[in-house]
Amino acid sequence: MDLEDAHLKQTIAEELGAVRRRSLALLDPLSEPDLLRQHSPIMSPLVWDLAHVGNYEELWLLEAVAGVRAGPRSLDDIYDAFRHSRTERVALPLLGPSEARTYIAGVRDKALDVLDKVEFDPDHQLLGNAYVYGMVVQHEHQHDETMLATLQLMDGEGYRPQAPVPPRGRRIDKAEVLVEGGPFEMGTSLEPWAYDNERPAHVVDLPPFFIDTTPVTNRDYLRFVEAGGYDDPRWWSEAGWAHRQKAGLSAPQFWRKECEGVWTRLRFGWREDLPLNEPVCHVCWYEADAYARWAGKRLPTEAEWEKAASAEPGGAKRRYPWGDAPPSPELANLGQRYFRPAAVGAYPQGASPWGCEQMIGDVWEWTSSGFTSYPGYHWFPYKEYSEVFFKQDEGRFRVLRGGSWATDPAAVRTTFRNWDFPIRRQIFAGFRCARDA
Ligand code: AVJ
Ligand code: FE
Repeated sequence: MDLEDAHLKQTIAEELGAVRRRSLALLDPLSEPDLLRQHSPIMSPLVWDLAHVGNYEELWLLEAVAGVRAGPRSLDDIYDAFRHSRTERVALPLLGPSEARTYIAGVRDKALDVLDKVEFDPDHQLLGNAYVYGMVVQHEHQHDETMLATLQLMDGEGYRPQAPVPPRGRRIDKAEVLVEGGPFEMGTSLEPWAYDNERPAHVVDLPPFFIDTTPVTNRDYLRFVEAGGYDDPRWWSEAGWAHRQKAGLSAPQFWRKECEGVWTRLRFGWREDLPLNEPVCHVCWYEADAYARWAGKRLPTEAEWEKAASAEPGGAKRRYPWGDAPPSPELANLGQRYFRPAAVGAYPQGASPWGCEQMIGDVWEWTSSGFTSYPGYHWFPYKEYSEVFFKQDEGRFRVLRGGSWATDPAAVRTTFRNWDFPIRRQIFAGFRCARDA
């Protein structure tokens, strides 16, 4: 084993340790019933997520890499996301909280033994660049974010994380910037742990466009609400209006209008005054689309978003909006540091070359684009990560970019693509607007 491999193994062991500490710490304050209960019909019971991340690790880091097992094969059915929808999972013979913790710890012990001996053969599908390890680390972080969305939906006393106060925002006079027309490189072929859906890098030629320097704030969005935006079908797409009617939408999820016209929002069991300078969060794609039309703008396409986030004028591509340095607390709000978005203007150092701020972290940003494959796409290493979600019928899934305050730095980059149904709002999603130049 060369020095570089030894270093990579150490990094992997650290990342595996960090994500597991995160998962366990998130669930540590919860009672057994709260771990077993289904807090929302669209979410799994938290104990399902917990054992599922261990089972995924078993399938990839034990079985696929070394042909060994830690737990019985009967678990593979229970924790297969494709065999049981989120709604059904509560009725499965799930491992209880302490059994789940024991199971995933047993998997981890064996995974570290395997890691010790493994060779990162560059020609091996899974082991080249240690891809499968990056996949498993990112997978657990993704489920941690999903668990945070479940915790935000929890009733009653709620979940009350202690966290420091985020950095203060600042006034930004320029509301939008012009991104020059021309080609840029979209996606990546080189980023070692990028998913199949981010590949391959390919040139996309865009006309010039304007894009907002910041995400839309609660203050901005409240104007739309108070102007009667939810009662005027002019602003809504046909499907969006039908959904708004059927679901009875009248404001973002977790907002409430108190007497005297004061607005509050619920955050992990706390009701607090609506923080006007924070990016709006918990809006579905239809709401974002309607707001943008009301504002005389539109959502950016994902290509526009990625160009504004990662291309330098002239063409060079950055790994992050600010450059190639890894995310740090001065650059972006990631990793549940504050358990909330920061106000707009809080991250001047995180700006992209065009002057767009907070593209990474704070809130996921809805784009106008459906989830499709890039030219030259090949599924890797399994079809159920991305391929089965690609557009089957028009508009099934919409792409979100940039990560939220709940996303770990290891699970986000400017090429990273997330997706969800256009009606979903439990995810930590907001948006910024764009318009034609
Ligand atoms: C990429 C966030 C849409 O949560 O459904 C988790 C990630 N894939 N387990 C999801 C995922 C398999 C996925 N998203
Ligand atoms: Fe999963």
